Parts: sequence; C-alpha cells; structure tokens
Amino acid sequence: MLHLASTTDDRWVRRAEAHIDEILLDHAHCEKKAASTALSLIFRYPERPSLMIPLSRLAREELAHFEEVVAILRRRVPATVAERVELFDVAELEACLLAHP
Ligand SMILES: [Fe+2]
Repeated sequence: MLHLASTTDDRWVRRAEAHIDEILLDHAHCEKKAASTALSLIFRYPERPSLMIPLSRLAREELAHFEEVVAILRRRVPATVAERVELFDVAELEACLLAHP
C-alpha cells in the first residue's frame, strides 16, 4: 500500500478511470523522460564519477518501466495507434485516441 497522507477523491478516481489511456500515455512519457534525464546527468557531470553507476541503473530502471507501460498501452489502444506509441507526443496520441474510440 502507498500509505497516502489523505484519501483520494472518488471524483478523481472516476475521471482517471474514464481517461486511463491518456494517463498511461502520460506515464509512459514520464518514464521515458526520467530515463533521458538520468542519461543527460551522466554526460553533464563527468567530474562526478560516483554518480555514473547509480544514474546508469536509474536510466535502465526507468526504461524498463517505459517498456512496461508501452506494453500495457499496446494491449489497450487500437493497433494503428499502438504501432506509433513511441513516436507520439501526448497531444498527438490524445487526438488519435479520440479519432479511434
Ligand atoms: Fe519509473
């Protein structure tokens, strides 16, 4: 369990359930960005060798998360959309999902 400090509003839960593909897509982008940021930090701070291995591990972990979310999206969205998941930005995929309900 997450042991959150407060309860989650049921309205938020219903709204999230109604837009789960968009949330998953946003999540995929967040995972990809986290991996990219970890890699950028490796290049940006070569004078901090103690960060190299932890950042490398973090990049791999976030890419694994990205792959998991993309796999879920591919099971959920139309094949024509799923084929292009890695290429889309959020706005493009949202538009595509609306066009292919
Ligand atoms: Fe992650």
